[in-house]
Amino acid sequence: MFPINRPRRLRSSPQLRRMVQETVVTASDLIYPLFAVPGSSVANEVVSMPGVYQLSVDKIVDEAKEVYDLGIPAVILFGIPEDKDVEATGAWHDCGIVQKAATAIKEAVPELLVIADTCLCEYTTHGHCGYLETGDLTGRVLNDPTLELLKKTAVSQAKAGADIIAPSGMMDGFVSAIRSGLDEAGFQNIPILSYAAKYASAYYGPFRDAADSSPSFGDRRTYQMDPANGTEAIKEIELDIAEGADMLMVKPALAYMDIIWRVKEATNLPVAAYNVSGEYSMVKAAALNGWIDEKKVTLETLTSFKRSGADLILTYHAKDAVRWLNE
Ligand code: PBG
Ligand code: ZN
Repeated sequence: MFPINRPRRLRSSPQLRRMVQETVVTASDLIYPLFAVPGSSVANEVVSMPGVYQLSVDKIVDEAKEVYDLGIPAVILFGIPEDKDVEATGAWHDCGIVQKAATAIKEAVPELLVIADTCLCEYTTHGHCGYLETGDLTGRVLNDPTLELLKKTAVSQAKAGADIIAPSGMMDGFVSAIRSGLDEAGFQNIPILSYAAKYASAYYGPFRDAADSSPSFGDRRTYQMDPANGTEAIKEIELDIAEGADMLMVKPALAYMDIIWRVKEATNLPVAAYNVSGEYSMVKAAALNGWIDEKKVTLETLTSFKRSGADLILTYHAKDAVRWLNE
């Protein structure tokens, strides 16, 4: 007896495979992260992230042009300030590094969307994502005082030209604080991309080298989510939706594809997945050793994020991926 059903029939030629392909990654799905540092003509390669650089504003503008020319619609900005303090002044100051970079990019490449990551960890002396009680060595961030600083940060980023605000600190009430701050300042039309389900992950290691944002004591487990929890992600996104989030993010991506799927099923908002630094570095390290095929592994991974329900992907692979997709 021959089998009646032969799924291989639809795999028999490249043309047929292309016709039945369910998921496609395109440049429009991607968001490229950029790290702004003070100075000029600075391009420091991040040791743990080959191909990723800390860039001064002049260099970031060149990079923004390249990203735009590739057809990538948006960048997300992180900043490494000149000075850090307990109030994270560098985050909310109108002359802060992200504010400068946002203004310069919008001037040079107005059509490239600038997303501002809104958090305090790059700007605080202790590297935590918020305001701490003086002398606190546990890293128990004070929620509501932190919201005030984050609100100022978001407004100053919007004033500097940011098109989208992306709150990433996992404070309670973050989205409503920022929404009211933006609305009061006349930015009712700036969307919020909330890092709604952000886990306390070891995959952020290389990013903390890039952004110089490691906590100097303790860890982020009193504000970021426990990797063991899935249902809690649904609670987090429901709160953010109620507070006015326009888009939701799941972070990290690779070890959390079930969360991407559940979030997508639970909402009708666009869902973004953050393919984080550690995920990038693992691919790079293995590729540099000749152990994997970087192009194939990267495109397979990005496709899988979309298949899991992500509409958008923040990824350090964005530029390479677009070049490969265009081949
Ligand atoms: C900080 C922040 C982190 C990332 C983006 N914003 C990580 C952290 O909690 O230290 C991680 C990005 C990455 O690993 O690529 N709010
Ligand atoms: Zn932070």
